[in-house]
Amino acid sequence: MNKKALYVHIPFCKSKCNYCDFNSFNANEKLMDEYIQALIKEMTLTKDKIDILDTIFIGGGTPSILSLKNIEKLLRGIYENFSIKDDCEITMESNPKTLNLEKLKLLKSLKINRLSMGVQAVSDKNLKFLGRIHSFEDAKKMYNEALKVGFSNINIDMMFSYPNQSLKEWKHALEEVLKLNPKHLSIYSLILEEGTKLYDLYEEGSIEILDDQLDRQMYYFARDILEQNGYHQYEISNFAKDDYECEHNKIYWRCEEYLGIGLSAHSYLNSKRFYNKSNIDEYIKDLENEKLPIKEIKDLTLDEKIEEKIFMNLRMNEGLSLDEFYKLFDIKLENLYSKEIEKLLKDELVVIKDGVIKLSKRGIDLSNKVFIEFLRT
Ligand SMILES: C[S@@+](CC[C@H](N)C(=O)[O-])C[C@H]1O[C@@H](n2cnc3c(N)ncnc32)[C@H](O)[C@@H]1O
Ligand code: SF4
Repeated sequence: MNKKALYVHIPFCKSKCNYCDFNSFNANEKLMDEYIQALIKEMTLTKDKIDILDTIFIGGGTPSILSLKNIEKLLRGIYENFSIKDDCEITMESNPKTLNLEKLKLLKSLKINRLSMGVQAVSDKNLKFLGRIHSFEDAKKMYNEALKVGFSNINIDMMFSYPNQSLKEWKHALEEVLKLNPKHLSIYSLILEEGTKLYDLYEEGSIEILDDQLDRQMYYFARDILEQNGYHQYEISNFAKDDYECEHNKIYWRCEEYLGIGLSAHSYLNSKRFYNKSNIDEYIKDLENEKLPIKEIKDLTLDEKIEEKIFMNLRMNEGLSLDEFYKLFDIKLENLYSKEIEKLLKDELVVIKDGVIKLSKRGIDLSNKVFIEFLRT
């Protein structure tokens, strides 16, 4: 049976990182209180839309910025409104500067069983360049406190391929993080997003982006060292020790159903995509008036569903089952894309084995080239 997920968006951060264009901003306690109240109202209005949950992901922004009182209110609200499986994976994203021992203990007591920590870099110089508010010492301290409190499933987010970063620095950063031995690592190559500080610096000519070759060298190095240290890659940017893949993200990548609540959160239910408003005042006002703050609902066309199934499944190392595709769409992928698949096989960008199509190692590097072949819309 398909799995079900709940995503909860917390749009607050202490300060904005120089590369980030997520919907997040600094807010005062009053606004955070009102937001949590609104979120709980949204839960009461949406709880019947989804069955028993396999995963919950509280993301952001920085959910760990919330006060103890609001964290407790939020989690209690979730458990009162939704049914969850006994082994439900419950993740919270965090920034080391917003954690402390008391908060970690509370998270643990409220059944959070997966902690995701944004670390990004290890040197003060690079952390400053990225606009991070913590030192690597802060991150290590909170990581170790989390272990002590009993979190065994911890993810660390790292970034590479940002201006002025050298291969040597990236190697050192990974070696340092590997000493912590987290169960999961996400490594993200910088995407220069419009509207961020780094984008402005790039536009005014103050910084240069790294060339593709160096970006790839950094990626290959990460892939190799993580494999040597007992992590397997299961998605383009994600590596895990055995049994520690992120179940929640796999629900997205397998195109299974999820309900997203909170500011600008996206949902996918009954073949419909919908997403919430992104203005916090409008979001809160709608909920005060018992109205769902939905901005747009979209029925996916057949072509959109096909495209999405292919794109999302190919991101994962498990690939796309040809049989499953046929059952879903009543047409064989090999027939629908016969020429394209022939070309991709010839260029060694995909492999087909045991009824599954996957990106090859080369294909993972050139994934955009592969995805273009499957475009329909
Ligand atoms: C919601 S944040 C993680 C939690 C917390 N807010 C923090 O940053 O510590 C999600 C992750 O997305 C990644 N990210 C954000 N913007 C990015 C960008 N422009 N390019 C690449 N990765 C990015 C960062 O690695 C970040 O850790
Ligand atoms: S990377 Fe994390 S802490 Fe930084 S602005 Fe984005 S969401 Fe906030």
